[in-house]
Amino acid sequence: MILEEARKRYIDFFVKRWHVHIPSAPIVPENDPTTLFISSGMQPLVPYFLGLPHPEGKRLVNSQTSFRTEDIEEIGDNRHTTFFEMLGNWSFGDYFKKEQLPWLFEFLTSRDEGLGLDSRKLFVTTFSGDAESGMMVDAESVGIWKSIGIADDHIFSYGARKNWWSRAGVPNKMPVGEIGGPDSEVFYDFGTPHDVRFGEECHPNCDCGRFIEIGNSVFMQFIKQQDGSFKELPMKNVDFGGGLERLVAATRNDPDVFLIDVFNTARIMLERRSGNPYGSSAHIMRSFRIILDHIRAASFLIASGIRPSNTEQGYVLRRLIRRSIREVGKLGIKDAVLADISEEFGAVYAGTYSFVLEATEVIREELEKEERQFKKTLEHGLRELEKMGNHVDAFTLFTTYGFPVELTMEIATERGVSVDLSAVQEQMEKHRVLSRTGAAQKFAGGLADHMEKTVRYHTAHHLLLKALQMVLGPDVHQRGSNITSERLRIDFSYGQKMTPEQKAKVEKIVNEKIIEALPITRIVMKKDEAERLGADHEFGANYPEQVSVYSVGPKSATEADPSFSEAFSIEFCGGPHVRNTAELGTNGARFRILKEEASSSGIRRIKAVLE
Ligand code: SER
Repeated sequence: MILEEARKRYIDFFVKRWHVHIPSAPIVPENDPTTLFISSGMQPLVPYFLGLPHPEGKRLVNSQTSFRTEDIEEIGDNRHTTFFEMLGNWSFGDYFKKEQLPWLFEFLTSRDEGLGLDSRKLFVTTFSGDAESGMMVDAESVGIWKSIGIADDHIFSYGARKNWWSRAGVPNKMPVGEIGGPDSEVFYDFGTPHDVRFGEECHPNCDCGRFIEIGNSVFMQFIKQQDGSFKELPMKNVDFGGGLERLVAATRNDPDVFLIDVFNTARIMLERRSGNPYGSSAHIMRSFRIILDHIRAASFLIASGIRPSNTEQGYVLRRLIRRSIREVGKLGIKDAVLADISEEFGAVYAGTYSFVLEATEVIREELEKEERQFKKTLEHGLRELEKMGNHVDAFTLFTTYGFPVELTMEIATERGVSVDLSAVQEQMEKHRVLSRTGAAQKFAGGLADHMEKTVRYHTAHHLLLKALQMVLGPDVHQRGSNITSERLRIDFSYGQKMTPEQKAKVEKIVNEKIIEALPITRIVMKKDEAERLGADHEFGANYPEQVSVYSVGPKSATEADPSFSEAFSIEFCGGPHVRNTAELGTNGARFRILKEEASSSGIRRIKAVLE
């Protein structure tokens, strides 16, 4: 089955069961400080698991473009990709286990409505409980799987490390305010021989590659409390996620996801340009997979507005491109090829994600620019390497000049120069640990453990946008934002540098609104009605028919009577927000602009704090 067909069948299957199809959220999250990229379908939906009513109702379905940075270095096997589509269906306090598991089974196995997988190849796993956090075994799911007809020897139970899902991992790792629950996973048995390097016996969670996870139903039920205990959420939720590429691979009964249709034209182009068939050796296959994965991901990221740089999302993008360039070199391709490969992906996804095709020119520009720059880095590194003579310091070459260690090793070996590998490895390990710690901080920073501060910044962001419009004029619109528990950042349309007087005026207005202690109200209404009210929204964003609108003030506003005409600010927004602007002044905090600078042509950027 081709990917388009599998995606369509999934959406249709759940729409038929009264789910509303929502669009994929942008892969680079807005207003979510917890992460650089959307890495699962549930991420943009967190407020709704916490009890906020979703404007589209209690049953949703979509396919979410997702990106996972954790395993960039691991790409090269037959089943891991950084970019993927995650099929998701959700219940917010509506159906639960006894509907979810049978529906999922029906979708996976039905020939008419689903994927037509052979049920004898499906294995399932359930939660066996967790003594440390006191979480109980999920016997109900075992019973449901049995009642559907899954044989006893196809049902396995594991502890929290495998069958508990939260964005932070096992219960004890979850920060205060984080949500999670037990899950039940489905694995497809590709029947490949077991590799004993991964353990005596094979089982669904063995990493030898015989079993591949194709879906995960999370029963999102708990929230972590201040004292470390867990509280039940106001309602029982379902959060299902299934890797679309892997599901398609299962329909082909071949575990190599790089052989599914979406990679075909790019793979064939690489074969032609390198003169190597994809399967000709393990090394060649690895290089192909890295290039195919990384360039598909890079195309989506550039089309979503990310540019190669040395920080945050831009740094991840740069790594993807540079690793691809090295693999292209290993395949013996001399000319620039990345942009041509990217164009193949633009064409493949034109029907569903046309923005990639529309960004063809800018993607080409960025990839070619990066290819040129990286070549310079290599030339520079080579000169330094020559200067080092017989004492090649691979670590300095890497850290100071960005020169890949692998390449140093190759050239040193060629020239018969000995390099102290253990020293390099030790240094590299230290470097890896450091950057991993940095990454972990980045991914943990914000929302969950500092929930309240982040939410305050979100409300301050609304006040700031309105104040900017009052001071600089009504043509000021939001063009991007990023909020953490330490500060807020807004990009907005305005052609000039702000004067100190303008900045002071904006600060004064925001601080006045904090002192006035204005209530915040949220109403769900039709999109055109919200537009008529003049609610601010981000240009180009995709909004559903029913939208959630937040207003600040007036003092008398209630949800029953929000008095929109007298509100200070009205914006389309998913929340969450504080209840009253007074909360922004907690501990005597005042709003202050830290920095005002150009972001890009016609766009200014402000960083501000509440301190
Ligand atoms: N949140 C779960 C996952 O990412 C299921 O959607 O696997």
